[in-house]
Amino acid sequence: MPGSSLRLLLSAQQIQERVQKMGEQIDADYPDGTLHLVCILKGGCFFLADLARAIRRDVLIDFIGISSYGKGKITSGAVKLTKDLDSTVDGADILLVEDIVDSGVTLNYLVNVLQQRKPRSVRIAALLDKPDRRVRAVKAAYIGFEIPDEFVVGYGLDFGERYRNLKDICVLEEGHAA
Ligand code: IMP
Ligand code: MG
Repeated sequence: MPGSSLRLLLSAQQIQERVQKMGEQIDADYPDGTLHLVCILKGGCFFLADLARAIRRDVLIDFIGISSYGKGKITSGAVKLTKDLDSTVDGADILLVEDIVDSGVTLNYLVNVLQQRKPRSVRIAALLDKPDRRVRAVKAAYIGFEIPDEFVVGYGLDFGERYRNLKDICVLEEGHAA
């Protein structure tokens, strides 16, 4: 994007190594049975693709669409379900797969929505966590990296739908294309 500048925060290799470890941890934690991976569109899909392949046990994959952001960096605060699950999750072990926990509004809302469908368990796997920004309580069972309060792009994370395809995660520096 013209005028924008990117600063490397997490390299593709760091991300891949961490995601492998998260997969191993998830395998070790769950009892036998199928794990229902629910990817939050769109940002979670790169993480989902790698995490699912780092898990050895049986998984089902489904997608849920949610929007809490406009085109900029500031949340609108309003969460909207844009695509529901295709599957039923009654009695399922759900693992929500998300790119980043920021204010916590999105995941707090989604966990409540999914709890109403009577799953056996709902946990969260988030690649990134910005704990300083939390407004709503969210407890993620699996966190890839804690990061400072900076706006990041790449590996699924976007700014106005751009940059999702970067292999690394980078800080989008202030003062550009806001
Ligand atoms: P929350 O509801 O504020 O926790 O927002 C979560 C969603 O906001 C994430 O799924 C991302 O789509 C988006 N988001 C939060 N922080 C960033 C960031 O630094 N870069 C890109 N997207 C972000
Ligand atoms: Mg997202």
